[in-house]
Parts: sequence; structure tokens; C-alpha cells
Amino acid sequence: MRITVIGTGYLGATHAACMAELGYEVLGLDIVPEKIATLSQGRSPMYEPGLDELLQKHVVSGRLRFTTDWAEAGAFGEVHFVCTNTPQRKGEFACDMSYVEAAFDSLAPHLREGAVVVGKSTVPVGSAARLAERMASGAPADIADTIELAWNPEFLREGYAVQDTLHPDRLVVGTRSPRAEAVLREVYAPLLEAGVPMVVTDFATSELVKAAANSFLATKISFINAMAEVCEASGADVVQLAGALAYDERIGGKFLNSGLGFGGGCLPKDIRAFMARAGELGADQALTFLREVDSINMRRRSRMVELAREQLGGGFLGQRIAVLGAAFKPNSDDVRDSPALNVAAQIQLQGGQVTVYDPKAMDNARKLFPGLSFAPTAHEAATGAHVVLHLTEWQEFRDLDPAELGPLVAERRILDGRNVLDPHKWRSAGWTYRALGRPG
Ligand code: UGA
Repeated sequence: MRITVIGTGYLGATHAACMAELGYEVLGLDIVPEKIATLSQGRSPMYEPGLDELLQKHVVSGRLRFTTDWAEAGAFGEVHFVCTNTPQRKGEFACDMSYVEAAFDSLAPHLREGAVVVGKSTVPVGSAARLAERMASGAPADIADTIELAWNPEFLREGYAVQDTLHPDRLVVGTRSPRAEAVLREVYAPLLEAGVPMVVTDFATSELVKAAANSFLATKISFINAMAEVCEASGADVVQLAGALAYDERIGGKFLNSGLGFGGGCLPKDIRAFMARAGELGADQALTFLREVDSINMRRRSRMVELAREQLGGGFLGQRIAVLGAAFKPNSDDVRDSPALNVAAQIQLQGGQVTVYDPKAMDNARKLFPGLSFAPTAHEAATGAHVVLHLTEWQEFRDLDPAELGPLVAERRILDGRNVLDPHKWRSAGWTYRALGRPG
């Protein structure tokens, strides 16, 4: 089976490499020539554990190629996976569908008889039905009725993209076409044989599974962060609280880590796009709680800034602040809507001298916030600091030795924005340790 993957961002590059790993001939297409040049050398344009190795392996084996040519993609693929992004529109909650629409419009005239097109992008409910019509009218007239569409949302996490693609919790397929379902069962046969469940449903339900899953995850994080606010007000400890809740299997401990809240290219924009779409459908009341989920999440960032200000005696002027972490989460170089950079920028705006260090995301952070200062190591970022903020929970930061760091800083103050450092370890090395939702 020959597969094309349209759009080679986090999702597409990973999907292309993993499809090659499953044994298929794969052609990846992107409209950005620089990305295609990098991928063609078997290198990933972003940091994603395990992806470089997989790309290298299959580019060398010849099973995986990349192009910018739509006609080549149309002629090559029996199955076309559309993986273009759907970012939040500027100044609005709704997502921008223009990349997905452009991909369908560019591909349609080149489709061959019997092609199966599979959307993987996160889209507002109702999009697949609309895109099916759009695709049919853009495809060559004589074969338009032989082309099928399926929606197959993706649930991979950055940092675990390869693992999640090759070993997903479930596959979800929305389609009206038994042939498209059969083709996808064939594509995913190795996963199905390994016991991965596949839910086959209609377009709308498949689109909603994705929106609902991300909304649930965001809600869980904001729930525990709301509890952190109550803990702070009452002197309780949110980490112990979450640990005790987690013993209840109905609640579970995953996504119950309180701290600076969620960021990245998915959860924040997905809950907003979901609210916007529900509004269009006249069901906005059903999702008003997501507005609160979003507000609780954004409050974490201001609370972190406030806590830092308190620690520095009420103001940032003349104070040096070390920020550990720039990526929106560890094991990623993605800085989209990064809570860490948001806090760093707020403090800088209020007059603090901020120096940021991140193990992988420095280049991306510099591009987004050229006004911030950056240091090449955690130790250098911390040198002379009046307070150290731990904002992205890289393993490297958990491994820091507070006794070694102590002599470098101006004041031994650490604020743990992710609630993963060991308070005892830091306090016994003479540091003031503070965290969101924990007693001082
Ligand atoms: C998220 C979902 O987890 C994936 O299932 C989904 O496929 C993806 O969005 C997507 O829509 O493409 P991702 O954005 O990679 O994946 O990151 P997560 O691991 O979900 O983390 C999101 C944010 O929540 C991070 O900023 C993380 O630090 C934060 N988080 C996570 C918490 O604050 N507490 C937690 O307990 C867990």
C-alpha cells in the first residue's frame, strides 16, 4: 500500500515515519520547502524523541520520501492522510481551517480513481461532511464518486509522538464508506492485531471524540489547579491532596499534576475552538464550563508571577530572575503558548532581569521572545539570581544539585511551578522552597 501524508508538522512527520515503520511506501508532502529539505535528509524539523532515528532509517531504506509537488502526491497515494494544522485564529476563539481547506483543494484535482482521503487534523464538528463535498467537487469529474473520505483523529502527545502512534490507546474512524473503513483496517492491521481497539462511527462523532478528549484532559488539569487555589487559601497541600485522590480508580492520578497549567499548540486552542463551535451550533451553554477551565488555567501564570514578586519583597526592579524551562512541556522544543515563557515575559515586562534556560527549546524561544536573555546552561542562568523559577519539568532540573547551585545564586530561593522538585532536598541545602498550592 502506498501512503501520502499531507502536512509534515508534529503530527504529519511522525505519522509518515510510523507508516513507513509499519512497512508502507510513504510520500510526505509539505508546502514549506525548508521542512522538506530537512526531512529528506532523514532529520526532524522539531525535537521529538525517537523521530530522527525513524526518519533516518526509512529515508535511507528508500521507503520514505518527501516532496512539495501535489501532482506527485496525487499520483502516488492510494491513501492520503491530511495532517495540516488548525491554529487558533488571531483575536478569536475559533480555529483557522484555511490550511486544511487548502490541502483538500490542492490535492483534490490530482486524486486517482478509488483514492481514500483520511483527515487527521483536529477540526470543528461538521468539518468532515463539508470537506467531503468540497473534495468531490474539486476532484476530476469522471472519478469523483470513487473517492472516499474518513476522519481519523489523532491522540498523540508531543514528547511521546512515536510511541503513541505505534501503540495508541485506540483508533477512531468516522466514515460513511465501508470501503474506507476496510482500507483503514488494512493500513492499521499491525496495530489491530496487537489488540488496539478501533471505534468506527460517523463523521461528527469522530470529530467530537477528539474535542471531548482534549476538553476532558484540560478540565482535569484545571480542576486540580482550582484545588491548588483552595489549598493556598486554607494552608493545605495540593500534592498530597492529588496523591490521595489518585487512589480512587474512578479519578486516577494521570493529568492531576497541579502547577503552572496547560499550554502548547493543542489543549488551549482546542477548548476555545470547541466553545466557538458549540456557540455556532446553539449549544454554547453546554460548554460554558470550559470558559472557567481556561480562566483557571490562565490564572496559574499570574499567580506564579505574583508568588515571585512576593518572594522578592514586592517588586522586580533590579532583581535577577532565572527561569528554568521554555518549552510548554518537557521532552519537546515546542514553545507555542508556553506557560514558562509567558511567565518569563510578564516578569520582564514588570522590570525584572530574566534569564531563561531550556535543554531543547532555546532556538524556538529566542525566535518568539527575542527580548528575553538566554543562558547556555541551568547553572549560568542561575548565576547571580535572586530567585530561580522552575517552570518546565525537564528531568535535568529534577536532577539539579541544590548544594552545587547554592553558591552561584544571589539568594537561595526556588519556586517550583510544576510541583515535582523535592522540597526536602532543596530546603536542607539552605533554600527557600515555594510552590503553587503548597504551604510555605
Ligand atoms: C495533548 C493531548 O494530551 C493529546 O492526547 C492530543 O493528541 C494532543 O494534545 C493534540 O491535540 O494534538 P500535548 O499537547 O502534546 O497533547 O501535551 P499534554 O501532554 O497533553 O500536555 C499539555 C499541557 O498540560 C502541558 O503544558 C503540560 O505541562 C500540562 N499538564 C499535563 C499539566 O499541567 N498537568 C498534568 O497533569 C498534565
